[in-house]
Amino acid sequence: MAEFSLDSSFIPALHKPAALLPVARYRDQLLYVIETFPVTIVIGQTGSGKTTQIPQFLERAGWCADGKIIGVTQPRRVAATTVALRVADEVGCEVGKEVGYSIRFEDVTSSATRIKFLTDGLLIREALVDPLLSRYSVIMVDEAHERSISTDILLGLLKKIRRKRPDLRIIISSATLQAEDFLDFFTISSEGKATTRTADAEEGVAKIVSLEGRTFPIDILHLAAPTENYVDKAIDTVFDIHTHEGPGDILVFLTGREEIDTAMRAVSEKVSQGGDQYAGFQALPLYAGLSSEEQMHVFDKAPEGRRKVVFSTNIAEASITIDGIVFVVDCGFVKLRAYNPRTGIETLTATPVSKASASQRAGRAGRTKPGKCFRLFTEDDFHNLPEANTPEIQRSNLAPIVLQLKALGIDNVVRFDYLSSPPSEFMSKALELLYSLGALDEYAKLTRPLGLRMAELAVEPMMAKTLLSAPSYGCLSEMLTISAMTSFGGSIWFYHDGEQKAMERSRRKFAADEGDHLTLLNAYSAFVTKGKKEARFCHENHINYKTMTQAVSIRAQLKRYLERFGVDTSESLASHQGESELKLKAENIRRCLTSGYFAHAARMQPDGTFRNVEGDMTMHAHPSSLLFNRKADWVIFHEVMETGDKTFIRDITKIEKGWLLEAAPEFYKLSDKRAELP
Ligand code: CDP
Ligand code: MG
Repeated sequence: MAEFSLDSSFIPALHKPAALLPVARYRDQLLYVIETFPVTIVIGQTGSGKTTQIPQFLERAGWCADGKIIGVTQPRRVAATTVALRVADEVGCEVGKEVGYSIRFEDVTSSATRIKFLTDGLLIREALVDPLLSRYSVIMVDEAHERSISTDILLGLLKKIRRKRPDLRIIISSATLQAEDFLDFFTISSEGKATTRTADAEEGVAKIVSLEGRTFPIDILHLAAPTENYVDKAIDTVFDIHTHEGPGDILVFLTGREEIDTAMRAVSEKVSQGGDQYAGFQALPLYAGLSSEEQMHVFDKAPEGRRKVVFSTNIAEASITIDGIVFVVDCGFVKLRAYNPRTGIETLTATPVSKASASQRAGRAGRTKPGKCFRLFTEDDFHNLPEANTPEIQRSNLAPIVLQLKALGIDNVVRFDYLSSPPSEFMSKALELLYSLGALDEYAKLTRPLGLRMAELAVEPMMAKTLLSAPSYGCLSEMLTISAMTSFGGSIWFYHDGEQKAMERSRRKFAADEGDHLTLLNAYSAFVTKGKKEARFCHENHINYKTMTQAVSIRAQLKRYLERFGVDTSESLASHQGESELKLKAENIRRCLTSGYFAHAARMQPDGTFRNVEGDMTMHAHPSSLLFNRKADWVIFHEVMETGDKTFIRDITKIEKGWLLEAAPEFYKLSDKRAELP
């Protein structure tokens, strides 16, 4: 290694020279358009260099000259971190210096930072303190085609900000051809929307630049008959490719972490039993819950003579490009948010992909040479797919976003300039929930301090309310922990092959009768006191050490927020608490949880399933919950997931029915059904 670094003009083999990326040929044109037009829309295939190169072009062209910075937003946290690491590497700095990233609970930037990658949600949050986003000379809204709820809201805000900041440059980058929608949005005033585009489109505001990239031909194969189980089928297909096809890495699209873990285990089992024809695999997972180091492995070349197989969620569809992929296996599904305005419950549901997504996924196979895409669905199925997914704003719980908009001083949230308007029932449901939580008054105005503080806290409104009411229940310290421990969306428990039983035994050591929230609290307390925050403790108890250290940091950050609000956060570490005091404490915690989560209440039925308050939704305790296969009556829950045709609830705590009425009398009066409380 040392011999080769003597001459710095050598290009490290790790990097494809940036000059060869399609975007390189457009550098001058891009810089000219950005200089001339307030809004530039860049369309280009995934992998053409938009995300990694454009910010560097801008920086070198002097857009950071007066201490301003270039902000690049991503809909996903994973993308923000991996891309920042990559660009820092190309620039030759440590991440956090000239190139940094900022995601919720993790700010890796400094005063030296000139290029900053961040999630679109976080940039909206920054507008709370800096309404004109005055630190930024350029804001690039990346992956705009995904139409995440935060991207849509951010575009609406930027349209407003642009009028007050003519110097600001906005770049919208998108992988598919929706350029006209973005162009219309920025050039037509909201009043003129109903009229035709040419009628009163503002000249000279926005311009489209299309990057032509080359891709190699891709053979697309469909199943002859539908499959019952696409995870099994995906694994079979991977082994078929391995035995029948030439060299090249494989990218498999599945919907989530559980499926990916199953596939990883199945591959390693087959390889260990299967003799020579199964040897030579290197299987790697890629999903949002992985640490940045774990994610970076997917970019490493497989060792000589081995074939890399990446099992990924749709992160690899557009946000992250892995070179060397020749084969794509597409399960045809993606986990998407879905919101039911009648029950007020938002789920993550495996949904068939759109035609646009399926093509995008197939395209991942043809980046370095001709490739093949194996679709685990029939050609007829493909023709029946929708052209594109519904924008997230039309299928999400709007409460978090409405709260943000109100805090940004946008009182008339219905008349906000949306790229696609959210359905009106969704809007009224959000207003109703925020009113019941006390964040809005009867005129739908933000309450102060409660509503404003809820908007500022970096957790969703129901948890924000729970945290802010904790002092009055005398359990702030505990709620800070619970809030931190439930903010990952994953599990703290982990196990290797065949260790599930052992993991469950470990978990039982921390189990609380009252449910998952108190169990998480017990695990955290043991980690910071008996476990002295050490990895060994975690290892012995099947707890994910990384997750726990993250929880410690998130807890500290939440505590700082509350201190800024002037809340007394001093913690009395009463070490000798009697049985009855502990029971009382536990009850207070459960009451406090109910004060925020009353809208997520359910009651156990004689058959062990749960029914929501309206009584028309059947839900099951998730196998990862302590209440799985246990008796309970009324409960509140944190999260809902749909897998197959079953609805699961996760992070569940037992409560008393009476507490619901106490916590939200109006909410339960609003609907006749609810008033009866089954
Ligand atoms: O944004 P866009 O999809 O147009 O491309 P990009 O993300 O800027 O990627 C440009 C090139 O950098 C591709 O060849 C990627 O494979 C490569 N890249 C990489 O090797 N490692 C990363 N962490 C990010 C990008
Ligand atoms: Mg990109």
